[in-house]
Amino acid sequence: MALHRTDSAASLTQPVPLPGEPAQFEQSLRPRTLTEYIGQSKIKGHLLMHIQAAKGRQEPLGHTLLHGPPGLGKTTLAFILAREMGANIRITSGPTLEKPGDLASILSNLQQGDALFIDEIHRLRPVVEEMLYSAMEDYALDLVIGKGPTARSMRLAIKPFTLIGATTKAGSMSAPLRDRFVNQFKLSFYDIPEMQLVVERSAEILAMAVDAPAAHRIAKSSRFTPRIANRLLRAVRDYAQVQGRERIDIAAVEHTLDALEIDEDGFDATDRLILSAIVDMFNGGPVGLSTIAAVLADEEETIEDVYEPYLLQQGYMQRTPKGRVATKKAYEKLGRVLPEGMQATMFEG
Ligand SMILES: Nc1ncnc2c1ncn2[C@@H]1O[C@H](COP(=O)(O)OP(=O)(O)O)[C@@H](O)[C@H]1O
Ligand SMILES: [Mg+2]
Repeated sequence: MALHRTDSAASLTQPVPLPGEPAQFEQSLRPRTLTEYIGQSKIKGHLLMHIQAAKGRQEPLGHTLLHGPPGLGKTTLAFILAREMGANIRITSGPTLEKPGDLASILSNLQQGDALFIDEIHRLRPVVEEMLYSAMEDYALDLVIGKGPTARSMRLAIKPFTLIGATTKAGSMSAPLRDRFVNQFKLSFYDIPEMQLVVERSAEILAMAVDAPAAHRIAKSSRFTPRIANRLLRAVRDYAQVQGRERIDIAAVEHTLDALEIDEDGFDATDRLILSAIVDMFNGGPVGLSTIAAVLADEEETIEDVYEPYLLQQGYMQRTPKGRVATKKAYEKLGRVLPEGMQATMFEG
């Protein structure tokens, strides 16, 4: 039997725009320069150096792969890279490129130094992906013209360009594709001070007056993810507006979080259900992803890409070859009695 939950909270974590959320909302909050981009300081340092070097050689920036959970700023960084290089950016995604011809037409129309951004690059079809190999390595397209015995292949030169790939799942990319990216960066979750900066920056752009404790509370409940912080801020703004409040204080934030069933650890109903499924239905695991998905009546991919990264990073769950296992922290979070084996570990740490 599937467990039930309310969808209002769950949808806050979704990578795609929410129903009723204008696309400009996310656009308007996007930092436009590396300086404006908060956190990820190591990555920014490397990128600054690569950008400077590429500019010095008057070459395009090396192909760059950005990976990490949804909402951490991959698309934002791709736009910034193009801008800092003074390049145009073309945007597409793995699932939209159905045929090799779709990619060929984009590649052959690129101008010298342009950036091509392929989002969800792990979802490229193999025939399309193969075309990228020579494009990335030799700036050439290997095309097959005609069919049957008269078919012949020809090589077409394209302009030197930068491929920027983004993926939530670097692990499911093929090695030949991954290896062709000279720069590979894994975005990490932000810390609370960085998240507070994200909230304060967004509030300023939206012309909202937010008290520091209120910003801090949003930062804490945002799963260290800027997209979620911005969505919470938007929800709080709606609440404050309806209440006729000028300033956003902690009470307004707490009211909104309660309504969305989001707790101080940033857990929403789905997170609690995932942990509860492992702990209560499967004695703490190991339990396979497909089983968890079936219990929640949700997609495996959503659970793996959207929910698990945070639960794993925060130490509520572990991945083992046999499946997902709940940790002591998960039992404590749910207020369950620790199994005997786990109590022993209390003396270790
Ligand atoms: N480093 C950052 N500083 C400030 N805001 C950020 C940062 N990274 C992401 N954001 C905000 O979060 C939103 C989601 O970022 P996005 O780049 O779309 O994430 P991803 O592509 O990784 O899913 C953006 O609209 C932007 O406003
Ligand atoms: Mg994105």
